[in-house]
Amino acid sequence: MAKPTTVFVCSDCGHKAARWQGKCPNCGEWNTLEEQRQVAGSSSLGAKTAAPVDLASINIEDRCRIVTGIGEFDDVVGGGVVPGSLVLLGGDPGIGKSTLALQLSMNVKNILYVSGEESVHQIKLRAARIRSDHELQVLSEIDLDAVLATIEARHPEIVVVDSIQTMYSEQSSGVAGGVAQVTNAVQKIMRLAKLLHISFIIIGHVTKEGYLAGPKTLEHMVDTVLYLEGERFASFRILRCVKNRFGTTNEVGVFEMQGQGLAEVKNPSQLFLDEEQLKASGNAITSVMEGSRALLLEIQALTSASNFGYPKRTTAGFDANRLQLLTAILSKRAGLNLSNQDIYINVVGGIKIDEPAADLAVALAIVSSLKDAVMANTVVVGELGLSGEVRFVPNLEKRIKEAQKLGFKRFICPKGKGNFKTGQIDVLPVKTLAEAIKLL
Ligand code: TYD
Ligand code: MG
Repeated sequence: MAKPTTVFVCSDCGHKAARWQGKCPNCGEWNTLEEQRQVAGSSSLGAKTAAPVDLASINIEDRCRIVTGIGEFDDVVGGGVVPGSLVLLGGDPGIGKSTLALQLSMNVKNILYVSGEESVHQIKLRAARIRSDHELQVLSEIDLDAVLATIEARHPEIVVVDSIQTMYSEQSSGVAGGVAQVTNAVQKIMRLAKLLHISFIIIGHVTKEGYLAGPKTLEHMVDTVLYLEGERFASFRILRCVKNRFGTTNEVGVFEMQGQGLAEVKNPSQLFLDEEQLKASGNAITSVMEGSRALLLEIQALTSASNFGYPKRTTAGFDANRLQLLTAILSKRAGLNLSNQDIYINVVGGIKIDEPAADLAVALAIVSSLKDAVMANTVVVGELGLSGEVRFVPNLEKRIKEAQKLGFKRFICPKGKGNFKTGQIDVLPVKTLAEAIKLL
């Protein structure tokens, strides 16, 4: 047998070092390196054998999904939770993860809600806020082994674990919420899930750096990874799927945080648009794809004479570098003088746009503000190239349909390959930025 070697593993980030050090060279935390013995190159001789199964003999009929009744959630996971699967629900603190989990727990019959963050009284208060009638088994506990034993004894269909960072096992090293504890907890949960066909919805906090529980280790271990996103002070929440072993990752769910929990938003575009505001200059409507659906969003631009030598470029919900680029294109290719103008861009509703398809709308909003021209009843879509050309964007037909559904009259878009039936909406294809500005 090979000789065991010693490594020092950081309990915070999982970094492995050959020697002990006071400070982890990877994450910079102090006093987190712990000694671990590893057996390198051990041979498989003498190990127990395992029995393979014939794939054809497996019946998938009886593994139908558990529908939670929260349509936006069910759609995102691919039509319900698969029995025996692990769903990781991540997001910033205070975004509404516990609320969403509790809400769907109250919809499903045989579910156990385990909270390491809140007392049963706090859970009750929250539940009463969401629904007056509720029947739900809750457990306020941070001892992982006790939680797992309870699950084994009671055998629920689904277990919610809120949150994985609070679960602590004496059999594992490290602090609660550290990598060692969290990975160990998910491993144990995974074993139980596969053994007893129990589904787990595991809530995980996102760290400052945007990672789930330190490094992204957890994402590899679970079947489905969902993120709940949104601005904390705006009411919209988007549930996004970034990994799904049992479906596509294309769907997103849209919710609105209300006084009685999260409400599903069936027609998001309508909510983001404000009739009165649309008549002001500096506003443009664009259409972005969220998963497989087109969403109409309002972009506001404000230009004002600059007081300092260096003009300001400020954005909310839009990439600031992209704005610099669009400003350069506007100056060079459309002959606008923006060097003495501060430019502010805001995407209404606290939504973040990261699709280049919004370029043309941002550019036209700036022109609209600068020239005080109103763009009524118009949706604008197109990516801008450096030479001022309007480039093709995918899913044009879907975007046009959504605009038509909401009663818009004009649709400015790139000159594309396809032909679109226009119906009541005027589709105005443009080749360049200058052409688009003429349509204002
Ligand atoms: P929470 O689910 O506790 O967030 P997380 O578990 O992701 O940390 O949500 C907390 C926020 O949601 C809190 O600021 C209050 C707000 N909220 C409502 O606006 N309405 C409600 O009905 C509930 C339950 C919470
Ligand atoms: Mg919570």
